Amino acid sequence: MMRFSILGLVAAKGAFASSVDGLYKLTSVDAPVKGRDSGTPGLNFEWAFSVDDTPSGHRQTVRGFGATVTDGTVELFNELSDPTRSALLDELLAENGAKFNMMRHTIAASEMSPEPAYTYDDANGTVDTPFRHFNISERGRNMALLLAEMTAKQPELTIVGSSWSPPAWMKENGDLRENLYMGNNVLNQSYATQFAQYFVRYIHAYGGRNAKVNAFTIQNQPLYTSAGVPSMSMSADESAKLIQEDIGPALHDAGLQTEIWAYDGNTDTPQYPQTVLDGASKYVKAVAWQCHAVADNNWTALTDFHDKNSDIDQYMTNCWTSSTDKWSQAADFTIGPLLNWGKGVMAWALGTDGQNGPHLDGQGVCETCHGLVVVDVGSDTYELQVDYYMMAQFSKFIPKDSIVLSSNDETCGEACDLHKSLEAVVTLSPDGSRVAVIVNKLANDTYVTLHTTGNQTWSGLVYGASVVTWVLPAVGA
Ligand SMILES: *[C@@H]1O[C@H](CO)[C@@H](O)[C@H](O)[C@H]1NC(C)=O
Ligand SMILES: *[C@@H]1O[C@H](CO)[C@@H](O)[C@H](O)[C@H]1NC(C)=O
Ligand SMILES: *[C@@H]1O[C@H](CO)[C@@H](O)[C@H](O)[C@H]1NC(C)=O
Ligand SMILES: *[C@@H]1O[C@H](CO)[C@@H](O)[C@H](O)[C@H]1NC(C)=O
Ligand SMILES: *[C@@H]1O[C@H](CO)[C@@H](O)[C@H](O)[C@H]1NC(C)=O
Ligand SMILES: *[C@@H]1O[C@H](CO)[C@@H](O)[C@H](O)[C@H]1NC(C)=O
Repeated sequence: MMRFSILGLVAAKGAFASSVDGLYKLTSVDAPVKGRDSGTPGLNFEWAFSVDDTPSGHRQTVRGFGATVTDGTVELFNELSDPTRSALLDELLAENGAKFNMMRHTIAASEMSPEPAYTYDDANGTVDTPFRHFNISERGRNMALLLAEMTAKQPELTIVGSSWSPPAWMKENGDLRENLYMGNNVLNQSYATQFAQYFVRYIHAYGGRNAKVNAFTIQNQPLYTSAGVPSMSMSADESAKLIQEDIGPALHDAGLQTEIWAYDGNTDTPQYPQTVLDGASKYVKAVAWQCHAVADNNWTALTDFHDKNSDIDQYMTNCWTSSTDKWSQAADFTIGPLLNWGKGVMAWALGTDGQNGPHLDGQGVCETCHGLVVVDVGSDTYELQVDYYMMAQFSKFIPKDSIVLSSNDETCGEACDLHKSLEAVVTLSPDGSRVAVIVNKLANDTYVTLHTTGNQTWSGLVYGASVVTWVLPAVGA
């Protein structure tokens, strides 16, 4: 347990933990001490790491953390009573909650939409080049209003849209999903101009409802199509051409500053975003990565990408959370990108019901994925999942514009035998304080020591199977 005397030792500003056993939930625990507590080491596993907290250690700035607002999320949140809904939004966004400040949202239907699938221009089988039927409809309106409400709670909110499929009439198969008999789940290039205008209209429609879209990706998972869920295949060359010749210019002509993020797919195909960047560098601000090809939390593809494209921002835009996965799933997909130049991290669904829905009926839907929060409309309650707490260990303590510091494992004794059982990331907050988030996947409590380039040592006990955040004072404070 985390109990030791700090008499005669300098304590940090605070420490907070969340553990898989539920004993700690963003709970204040014993702060680490400056130097080493001579009593405790030796009794526990030990691990040490070092951080460069001088200017030479400065890496990327952090933009934020959050999850994806799906149609299902909106529907469930809106069925809660006003007091419960407001309390939930506070736990997600407010100062006394997780302080999530980055939300992705689905541009029309995704697999986490109640039936039927739809887009913002369903023209009833006709080709609608003049956009006579364009309408974000009731579901789009409710989503925009929820994002606007979130912005009111969290003024620094970054909103990122992603499309699963454009309107059927723009596609060669005339369908939102993969049509097994026809194939061709691709954009009809004759409608490239309309494809670009579709995004301009969507951004205007949301902006008009006080949901300012800061960034978007033109196609979720462009290398994956499905007969069950809205999807569309798009090659890297096609994506580059569309952004360079149609979408980038359309945003510019509309006076929109909305960032275009390339790719939005898995880390096993880094040549895709490279091709998009090479062909549309004028308009691409960032690369969006997803986790579905990542084994053992290996996010080094982002560092490789940074080495070749140091001026391009990188984000982790989609990774599932599920009760059938390891407890550290959300901690892993948050710390991994941060340690590899990622500026922000978004989980997949923000909210689901107790049956991992609502979702579309078709194949390709994750039947075991739950949201960061599980909502029970019948009893007007919600339950924050372990994944919420694991992400909040980062989001609550690492403010926007923090700087990630370069860090390394040191000697770690027994803990080292267990591959990546301990990981830590250290950030420098705008107010000068330093924040260390330590993920301990060992079942055992572990005595952790942090050495800084500024010659400080901080140490303390980190509870087994937990994530612990140390808030350390500014250098010299
Ligand atoms: C959709 O098209 C069908 C047949 O083409 C027509 O009967 C129906 O009235 C149309 N619906 C709307 C809402 O326009
Ligand atoms: C858009 O859709 C909403 C809800 O489905 C409907 O009430 C509204 O009349 C539509 N607007 C237009 C311009 O058709
Ligand atoms: C693409 O759209 C053009 C213009 O409407 C049309 O002539 C063509 O048949 C479409 N191609 C496919 C494969 O649907
Ligand atoms: C992580 O993936 C990279 C390829 O991106 C590979 O070279 C490296 O060996 C992997 N590291 C681990 C620990 O699996
Ligand atoms: C680690 O935990 C196991 C199981 O609780 C226990 O038997 C063992 O003594 C612990 N090891 C150390 C070094 O604390
Ligand atoms: C830290 O200690 C080392 C070795 O004692 C010394 O060379 C270095 O100058 C010190 N750095 C700072 C920032 O005090």
